[in-house]
Amino acid sequence: MSALDPAERADRAGYVLVIGSANVDVSVTTARLPRPGETVPGGSVLISVGGKGANQAVAAAAGAVTHFLGRVGDDDFGHLVGRTLHARGVGLDSLVALPAAATGVATIAVDDAGQNCIIVVPGANAALEPRDVDAAADLVRGAAIVVLQCEVPLSTVYRTAELARAACVPCILNPAPWQDLDLGRLPPGVDYLIPNETEAAALTGLPTTTPAEAARAAQRLLGAGVGCVVVTLGAAGCVVADATGALHLPAYPVTAVDTTGAGDAFVGCFAAALAAGCPRHEALHRAGVYAALSTTRRGAQASYPTYTEFEAAYPSAAPASG
Ligand code: RIB
Repeated sequence: MSALDPAERADRAGYVLVIGSANVDVSVTTARLPRPGETVPGGSVLISVGGKGANQAVAAAAGAVTHFLGRVGDDDFGHLVGRTLHARGVGLDSLVALPAAATGVATIAVDDAGQNCIIVVPGANAALEPRDVDAAADLVRGAAIVVLQCEVPLSTVYRTAELARAACVPCILNPAPWQDLDLGRLPPGVDYLIPNETEAAALTGLPTTTPAEAARAAQRLLGAGVGCVVVTLGAAGCVVADATGALHLPAYPVTAVDTTGAGDAFVGCFAAALAAGCPRHEALHRAGVYAALSTTRRGAQASYPTYTEFEAAYPSAAPASG
């Protein structure tokens, strides 16, 4: 039996708690992304559930018991979010549909190389307030690990990090999308900071175009009091750094058709693996493979492997032991 088998997961006291955004993604393909003022022809349209928080929750639920705290509108898109997350095994006691707000929507263009650009209309995500997290403080205190991103108000991110720290619950912060964070204003008690190369550059003012540069930026971020920094580098893998040094982990090679949500897949899978007791290096490897596999299909969480799909694919992707 795998360490992450669902039958075993059901017995685990620890769960992943993701607090953050949920959207509906309207994604179109195009040969190349348009320049400002330009109209280009599109290919296919995919309407599916996304949002960085919801994506991370779906990825986590493929490896651990997972709960999601967030806000949608009481509208068709909000109902679609609820049905979809439920079908992927995410606990939704703290997903609230607000009558006075619309569900967040992301418009996404994906080019032939699988790269994307995204515009997000936050809608109900902007109504997730610190007091909503306070009202769910027991859920935070009981978690094995808490996962945060920045697609909801920063005040809510800070409040959650404070609560997690007070309860000694490990906390992952994925500083995406970029908001006005700087090294002196990181939330307290972040155990794992997981920026992509763009976010790491913005946080530090350092270049991050190579693994060596990303390692230097990661070291700078450690100086801000974070326990461990993982800079994700897309097809170049990731760099992990802590007080003992920095290490580059290459990516699992795939042919990408759509990279939307790959970073979220990485974060969610990493959190689940830690919650299930995997050593950090193995958790990072699982996350890298899970994220790579997600890029081989269209959409964000629609592309994420289920538990069964991942466990079938992972053994051949795992590094040789010994
Ligand atoms: O990271 C990908 C996600 O960003 C999409 O699902 C979209 O909803 C935006 O939040």
